[in-house]
Amino acid sequence: MDTKVYYIDENNENIIKEAANYIKDGKTVIFPTETVYGIGANALDKKACEKIFRAKGRPQDNPLIIHVADKDISEYVESVPDEAKLLISNFWPGPLTIILKKKDIIPSEITGGLRSVAIRMPEGEIARKLIKESGVPIAAPSANLSGKPSPTTIEHCIRDLSGRVSMIIGGVECKYGIESTVVEVENGAVTILRPGEITFEMMKDLGLNVEIDPTIMETLIDVVPKAPGMKYKHYAPDSEMTIITGENLNVIEYINNKTEKLISEGKKVGIISTTENLDFYTKGTVLNIGSRNNLSEVASNLFDILRSFDKINIDYIFSEGFTEEGVGLAVMNRLKKAAGHKIIKV
Ligand code: TXA
Ligand code: MG
Repeated sequence: MDTKVYYIDENNENIIKEAANYIKDGKTVIFPTETVYGIGANALDKKACEKIFRAKGRPQDNPLIIHVADKDISEYVESVPDEAKLLISNFWPGPLTIILKKKDIIPSEITGGLRSVAIRMPEGEIARKLIKESGVPIAAPSANLSGKPSPTTIEHCIRDLSGRVSMIIGGVECKYGIESTVVEVENGAVTILRPGEITFEMMKDLGLNVEIDPTIMETLIDVVPKAPGMKYKHYAPDSEMTIITGENLNVIEYINNKTEKLISEGKKVGIISTTENLDFYTKGTVLNIGSRNNLSEVASNLFDILRSFDKINIDYIFSEGFTEEGVGLAVMNRLKKAAGHKIIKV
């Protein structure tokens, strides 16, 4: 398939119009959002959405998020409970996806056969203009090959999906660089199925009854997570990865020792270091994930770092660990998945 690629910003109305025409015609378009790039198609057209699954190699039972340009979602869901209304008025447009009972207009092929649908209103200008111009909600999972880290730059998308989609637009940076928080709202409770920039603490502060799906931080053996996507191996770099947690100096010492040993065996080692620790690692390929005091910065660099190690064929990756408070919950969730839950406490 021929893929048109356009480097644009939100003022490039003509290209956004062309992309919207593609969506209306049932084609696939990759576009940037404030979280990560998405691969979009008309959410009301199951044939168009089939193309998304095929392009990504995504299992059919893994439901898609639909993206809207308006806070009124009554056309798509049975009802909007008060808890969801509060979340919408506080966090939309933005990196929060809400799962509610769907109406029949949403084809069950895009919800993996579930009777619920995941919806979010993105904050990214290109995304919102594209949805408005298309006149339909846009189903869009992250624009990576299934199992690979989510794309935070247009180059990531081109590498994974060029030739598999009709159009790629973007070039702008994703503000957050980590996928949206996914919550289910049911029976008065808000359950986090995937942590992100809208944190447990932020939702608690609104007086909501917030829970964290236990499968998020556990090893996934024998427990079926509520978000079907969370059970798949994800964000996986090609190399073997381990997270090292504990007292800072112990972490540095452990990583340095292991790195030295592996290098002496002829292996290539990558280290994910915080800015504060950069100077302490003397061997291996050391990449800076950001300051320990700025977890949003850490979150936004994570996927690009995993992809950088893939490009230079690293054999082993060691990553420092992080607190699981605030955005740290999202950072550790993605790191643990990338590491296949291999964590060593030193
Ligand atoms: O930030 C984001 O959310 C990005 C951008 C493009 O908007 N999209 C994204 O989509 O990350 P995706 O498909 O890669 O991840 C959606 C997650 C999956 O884990 C999926 O299983 C879950 O949300 N999900 C979707 N619909 C669901 C539903 N009805 N019930 C439970 N989980 C659902
Ligand atoms: Mg994804």
